[in-house]
Amino acid sequence: MSDHPGRQSSSALHVLQVSAELFPWLKTGGLADVTGALPGALAPYGIELRPLVPGLPVFLKAVTDRCFVAKVETPWGDALEINRVQFESSRFGWAYVIVAPQLYERGGTPYEDDDKQAFGDNHRRFAALSWAAMSLGQGLDPAWSVSLVHAHDWHAGLTALYMKVYRSHVWPQVPCLLTIHNLAYQGLFDAKHLSELAIPQDCWHMDAVEFHGQISMLKAGIAYADAISTVSPRYAREILEPDQGQGLHGFLRLHADRLIGLLNGIDTNTWNPAKDPLIEKSYQATNLAAKEQNVLALQSILGLEPRTTGPRCAVISRLTEQKGLGLIVEAAETMIQSGAQLVVLGSGDETLKRQFDALHARFPGKVNFRSGFDEHLAHQIIAGCDVILVPSRFEPCGLTQMYGLRYGCLPFVHLVGGLADTIKPWHFGKDDALHPDDLSNGFGFERDSSESFLQCWHEMMMCWHDRPAWQKLQKRGMSLALGWDVAAANYAALYDRMISSAAHKH
Ligand code: ADP
Ligand code: GLC
Repeated sequence: MSDHPGRQSSSALHVLQVSAELFPWLKTGGLADVTGALPGALAPYGIELRPLVPGLPVFLKAVTDRCFVAKVETPWGDALEINRVQFESSRFGWAYVIVAPQLYERGGTPYEDDDKQAFGDNHRRFAALSWAAMSLGQGLDPAWSVSLVHAHDWHAGLTALYMKVYRSHVWPQVPCLLTIHNLAYQGLFDAKHLSELAIPQDCWHMDAVEFHGQISMLKAGIAYADAISTVSPRYAREILEPDQGQGLHGFLRLHADRLIGLLNGIDTNTWNPAKDPLIEKSYQATNLAAKEQNVLALQSILGLEPRTTGPRCAVISRLTEQKGLGLIVEAAETMIQSGAQLVVLGSGDETLKRQFDALHARFPGKVNFRSGFDEHLAHQIIAGCDVILVPSRFEPCGLTQMYGLRYGCLPFVHLVGGLADTIKPWHFGKDDALHPDDLSNGFGFERDSSESFLQCWHEMMMCWHDRPAWQKLQKRGMSLALGWDVAAANYAALYDRMISSAAHKH
């Protein structure tokens, strides 16, 4: 396989990955971690997975080498220039970027301006991503013909629709997989944009694009993709129920035969306490004592008291309703009374920021809140804490609990979605000689309530005071295989099934 953006590659299976985020260049959450890891994870299966991303400033800044592929004009008149590029410090070779300054070259996040307002032309910005994906899927780049398109989240939701509606009759049918990372974000836009986005009138009904009178890009993806995946098996089941279905459970049930839950892995090179350049002192399960140096370093960075009698607890999270952080605000006093410390790193909701600021002011030296997104500090926190709190109301997969496992920072989670699929809760009196096959690796509460949270907290404190039991959990978590191997094998098998089924239809 050639890593030069201008050269033809080998005969590997070619998968075009379509996403708005890609680690390490652009990340607002776990989506980037996943899209950044998949190319490397699938390479051993003979799958060449090439990302397609919008030409946002951070991506363009990271380009070290580029090669023009083609110009495309969207039906609504946006000129897109597709380039193959090499990104600085890429671990997977070249990628495609859409250069369209009028759509992408501006400040803010991929989705919002600096004042946290969604860009008024987001419908065009993301439809353009899908339009470019569809064009590449139909032979736009003669040097790299696509075998399958893998679209992520609502941002790429129209890809499958465009591929079906604007299918080229001279090009073999290329199947499209849609991965839903979070059903709560659906890409809803005013129905007046329908014809502007070249969505035919006959797609405008409740079994396709229409969602309560609006265009839903995610729903379009679900309706037209050849297969749909979510990022954990449990979440794939949960979204078929009203409670977690975000209004789409009925629609998803209609498509349940094409829906599969594949649990995410984590990048065990980036998240490896034995070789993490971002932390104070490397450590592993056999020298856990060295973790303490990371604890002291973190406390000193954040101005926390070095002496504690309880666990140092971490939150690294987007500050949104989804993450259930109100439970921590309510329990904070009890936690501090138990001798614990609390470190929160997060960006997002202003009310939650104010609440964590207030806790910081109320418990100086015991609580620290850092507002913002800081990859380096995230590593220092996971290495320097004993517990990672993930009390999410819903969680499609969740990655920080797995980072916690790897760093001997025990997860304390609400047992939903991917959290329930990755964390086996410890129970007092169970993890002993009588239960040698116990696989507990953290703590979990069943109900989304303060009572349930606190009950779990008190049980966790029993474990904390039983040092051998605590260390056993740490070591077990650190030895788990959390990498991408299993997920990559599952994706590879799914791609194969999709490609052979498309070939039969053709
Ligand atoms: P979600 O994608 O819903 O935000 P995940 O747990 O899947 O949740 O992924 C979150 C990712 O973003 C993790 O890699 C986590 O470390 C990172 N992250 C979240 N908030 C921050 C922050 N404020 N600073 C640094 N990293 C963060
Ligand atoms: C989403 C989900 C999160 C998941 C991540 C990566 O942002 O909220 O649970 O881990 O995507 O798939």
